[in-house]
Amino acid sequence: MTESDKTHEDYIARIGGTAATARGFMGRRWNRYYFRTLKRTVRDMLADEVGTDSTVLDIGTSHGNWLPFLRQLGFHTVVGVELDAERAEQARRAGYDEIYNCDARGVPRPSDSIDVAVSNDVFVHILRLQDKAAIVRETERLLRPGGVMVFNHSSARAFGHHAAHIRDHCSYLTLDEFIRLVRDNSSFVIEDIKPSYYSVLGHPQRRTLRHLLMAMPFGWMATSLLDHGVRQHQPIDLSDYVYLKVRKPGG
Ligand SMILES: C[S@@+](CC[C@H](N)C(=O)[O-])C[C@H]1O[C@@H](n2cnc3c(N)ncnc32)[C@H](O)[C@@H]1O
Repeated sequence: MTESDKTHEDYIARIGGTAATARGFMGRRWNRYYFRTLKRTVRDMLADEVGTDSTVLDIGTSHGNWLPFLRQLGFHTVVGVELDAERAEQARRAGYDEIYNCDARGVPRPSDSIDVAVSNDVFVHILRLQDKAAIVRETERLLRPGGVMVFNHSSARAFGHHAAHIRDHCSYLTLDEFIRLVRDNSSFVIEDIKPSYYSVLGHPQRRTLRHLLMAMPFGWMATSLLDHGVRQHQPIDLSDYVYLKVRKPGG
């Protein structure tokens, strides 16, 4: 089998759970930064979407890192789907109301039964376009009419690529390709596009600078604040991750 034939299932053991699997001093700092920045983006995008009886689906829960944040946002019921059995069990123990231990391409749950779907740091690890497309289609089926999905993808341009690229257990798409993935495979309406992290220091030539900044006391917080302050002035796709907010028509 060549590298390009591999699927996310071939790599599942290597796809971990960001903060929960961070190792060492710098790993923990980077993960504080990721979480601070990613959550700010998701909170902005979901500002008007949480009702008192809303159900959210977390696609690719890993160990359950996003549970406290989703509860804090006010979701009444938090459902998760996770392909890896051990991580799914950890997420169940962490307190998800329901966990499906299966591939997000096919979740055994009724159509129109979810209000909001979120997925962070997962599509980057779904290597084949047809598998990404299958998850988009399945999420549309699960969402009620008018429901929203907020999810991110790693940006090709931020990593110096000009078209879809797979390396090891990660995949990158240009912003156009990410948008086309949604347009060609669903009836979702794209409502918002936001950069998430690395938008200030994300230029490939500046990687050393951001590592130095991260090593300083509270560097993770300073980097996150800087990102937030100036991200309006940079092209969205220079952010390592780009978030889309899409809505299922109707409702
Ligand atoms: C890098 S982790 C991200 C975890 C969490 N969302 C976060 O942001 O901390 C990606 C998770 O997605 C899971 N995953 C990957 N492909 C999946 C699929 N097709 N269906 C369900 N889960 C999947 C992996 O097993 C892994 O636990």
